[in-house]
Amino acid sequence: MDFDLLTAAAVLYSLDLRERFREPIIGPGGCWPSGTTRILLCGSAAFSLGAVMNFAGIRFIHRIFLPLLLVSTVPMMAQEKAHLSIDASKAGAKIDRNLFGQFAENLGHGLYEGIWVGPDSPIPNTRGIRKDVVTALQALKVPDVRWPGGCFADEYHWRKGVGPAGQRPATLNSTWGGVVDTNAFGTDEFMDFIQQIGSQAYVSVNVGSGTPQEAAEWLEYMTAAAPTALQKERAANGHPEPYKVGFMGIGNESWSCGGDMTADYYLAQLKIYSHFVRNMNPAQQDKNQMLKIAVGPGFPETEWTEAVMKAWKQHDWSWDIDGLSVHWYTTPGGWPLSMPSSGFSVDDYDKTLKSTLFMDDFLRKQEEVMDRYDPQKKIALVVDEWGGWYKALPGTNEHFLVQQNSLRDAILASLNLNIFARHADRVRMANIAQMINVIQAMILTDKEKMVLTPTYYIFKMYVPFQDATFVPVDFDPGTVHRDGITLPRVDALAAKDASGKLWLEITNLDPEKPVEIDAEIAGMTIKTAKGETLTAPAVDSVNTFTAPGTVAPKPISATVKGDRLALTVEPKSVTVFALEP
Ligand code: AHR
Repeated sequence: MDFDLLTAAAVLYSLDLRERFREPIIGPGGCWPSGTTRILLCGSAAFSLGAVMNFAGIRFIHRIFLPLLLVSTVPMMAQEKAHLSIDASKAGAKIDRNLFGQFAENLGHGLYEGIWVGPDSPIPNTRGIRKDVVTALQALKVPDVRWPGGCFADEYHWRKGVGPAGQRPATLNSTWGGVVDTNAFGTDEFMDFIQQIGSQAYVSVNVGSGTPQEAAEWLEYMTAAAPTALQKERAANGHPEPYKVGFMGIGNESWSCGGDMTADYYLAQLKIYSHFVRNMNPAQQDKNQMLKIAVGPGFPETEWTEAVMKAWKQHDWSWDIDGLSVHWYTTPGGWPLSMPSSGFSVDDYDKTLKSTLFMDDFLRKQEEVMDRYDPQKKIALVVDEWGGWYKALPGTNEHFLVQQNSLRDAILASLNLNIFARHADRVRMANIAQMINVIQAMILTDKEKMVLTPTYYIFKMYVPFQDATFVPVDFDPGTVHRDGITLPRVDALAAKDASGKLWLEITNLDPEKPVEIDAEIAGMTIKTAKGETLTAPAVDSVNTFTAPGTVAPKPISATVKGDRLALTVEPKSVTVFALEP
């Protein structure tokens, strides 16, 4: 038999097999289902039967060009279905905009090159801060940025990063690769960046190798309005008005890189820093006070949380906290990191998503402890480091934590954001690690080049959820089983914004099958539905400097009939709909 004919026979046979096993008939090889009768449009354009042949007594016709239309009366297996039930009049907690916060550590090319190129750079910049990055971040309405670390925060001495650029000392970034730090990006540059992107500052003060006095003076430098020496120094550096510091982290991972402290030792430090490190900005004294965030665990065990919450329960007037920071990364396969960030299999995709869904249990465990000491939920759980952390890209400095960002990360981000939203009564802040060029980044840069990652687009699609009110969605997520791993097939999130619009998000985790969504909406009459969906050819599809649009949102339509919204979501996709009354 001629090769073309063998291929044709094999494709047709495999289609039949696939159908029997209810596997998708979308994808390379190219057959698209149409309707419920068996009409298959096979679109592999060059596909042809090459010769006049006799095969099992059947005479094949010379050269049949495709698209080939095969019509049969055998009913097609329907695609997967999910029913969502939403009552828009039911309101849950506010989905705090700070759940969409970012983390920018002095690490690798996160700040230097990612944000800061210097005023003399040929890369277009405003006072040294790159314009392309600022424009991209403005669209995300980034609520807050955590800086300068991370582990780096406990080796940062702020005085080295203020004053005339040429007079700042060069130091070593011992935490991240021992590289020389010019200190060109210091406090005033960070605040300038924050103002350019329209965000709020979340500063982590140095508890590990600093002193309460150093931290207190830093806060005074940033926030004093009265004419103190530090206020005058700030004014001389170009900013007479006090800066607003929305959040202050007291240490970072103090049980590890932040000083390897016991919980008791840390608590003694926490009380001192909480009392003496003050925000002096007159605009932040009453309602808009800076929130103080204590170090919490980066592990599922709860002893550390127990110790902090117990101490807080007994606290007197002299100290207080508003949040407890937890760190939880998705590290499929554990440490040392072995999962690649690009060029991985569907198996790796399954493992990664399975691993990321642990965030729900992780939060629940910490919340159980917090609820015992703080049933009124005064103390926020702050997930100020999270994201998919994989093996460093080959050829990069392993201390710079450089990785690609794929469609898998977009789906991982949506799952985590949905988990945070479902815990919104306690989880009121989260910061993805990290903003630019490090771990699960929004943006990748290479000198003058910049590309937006799939994760960037998820944060953009979720902007309407910032400060919206959670609306519960009842649904059976279904399951996808493959090679011993079971994942939910779909996830969904709904929220109502201040203008009365209902926002509906649907994640289809299944890398192969589309899902037909039937959403029943009570509590409001929907007139219009406008949506965007993010997917790509493969789970490991990425955006590159030369192909920046491989993973980008595109419009998707749905039908609204009475109280029903009907649409089909593509495999491995994230979809957001605005439903207007
Ligand atoms: O985000 C990278 C590092 O991970 C942070 O510096 C540290 O806090 C965490 O361990």
